[in-house]
Amino acid sequence: MSWLSSELQAIAALPPDRPMTMPGAFYTSKDRFRHEADTVLRRGWHCLGRIDEIPAPGDFFAVQLLNEPLIVVRQVDGDIVVLANVCRHRGMPLAEGRGNTKRFVCSYHAWAYDLDGGLMRAARMKNAAFDAKSCGLHRHNRVLWNGFIYVNLDSAAAPFDLPALNGLLTNYETESFRLAHVAEEVWNTNWKCLVENFMEGYHLSVVHPQTLHDYTPTGLARKLAVGDGFTSYAANYPKNIPPRGLGAPNLTDDERLRSTLFALFPTQVASQAASLLVSLSIFPLSAGQIRVKWTLSTYGDDLDDDTIVARIALWEKVNQEDREKLERMQIALGSQHAVSGPLAEDDYEGTIRDFQLWLAAQDRI
Ligand code: FES
Ligand SMILES: [Fe+2]
Repeated sequence: MSWLSSELQAIAALPPDRPMTMPGAFYTSKDRFRHEADTVLRRGWHCLGRIDEIPAPGDFFAVQLLNEPLIVVRQVDGDIVVLANVCRHRGMPLAEGRGNTKRFVCSYHAWAYDLDGGLMRAARMKNAAFDAKSCGLHRHNRVLWNGFIYVNLDSAAAPFDLPALNGLLTNYETESFRLAHVAEEVWNTNWKCLVENFMEGYHLSVVHPQTLHDYTPTGLARKLAVGDGFTSYAANYPKNIPPRGLGAPNLTDDERLRSTLFALFPTQVASQAASLLVSLSIFPLSAGQIRVKWTLSTYGDDLDDDTIVARIALWEKVNQEDREKLERMQIALGSQHAVSGPLAEDDYEGTIRDFQLWLAAQDRI
């Protein structure tokens, strides 16, 4: 066992009232990243985006998760499948970016695949061993949940099952939120740093004094449910703020007066508010780099166009504020002096401990 795996087990075994951070090498070591890519990341369920990014038959987008190029495509019957974006002839990627198509035609020798990955045509193939039926594209495990699309690269993956998190989101009607914005960026940070950053309320008032503090001050952050594969906290609003949209009819006053932040381990973090849903999908590229895809969705007609534009601008600003901190921290985490340090109490940083416990359990599988 590597020293970081031993350290993770030791940190996870600490008493709950004495939580500590992992040392910097956990976030900067190339060996650690390779280990995670082969285990926790390879085995996990990863959010690729929202289903209404591809509303019509033939709508698709290409995305790369670890070493696997993928195509997410809407079928003629409305179903969504995730295909390996790797031609069965000699391995060319079949699609890039996003668009709409009737079939995927390889740009190298023009093999043509149906939307479900079946090989339709391969010109001039007289090879006696060639059998078109056995040359379909690999279909990855995928799950649709609350309007999100998830993939698992492991064909023997554990099933996707998050009942306690379902309970936390039911009243928001997360599934019915409509997409208003998608953006992608590359950040120079470790994937776990963004999970931890998004999931702790301790930094809110310090890092986001203009953008978030008035609505979600650090002092009102409260831990919510934790369960297998997820954690959550409430970024509560002060009582006197102007309403931000009513949202779904069954929401309680408490739910209306907070953003419910959840992490679906390993790589999705999201903020669910009455009228606004922001979700970040983290695509780890290396120990020190990620691609972040984020979507912003809204409830019904709660927000008018000007408000939606303002919310997108606000979240762009919030993300830049977090990115600036994380990119500077990534450099300092390479220091020999980035040693284990104490975490704040449960309401502020308990979600980081939840993540550690989950990672430690994954390392024991
Ligand atoms: S690599 Fe795709 S047709 Fe040859
Ligand atoms: Fe932040």
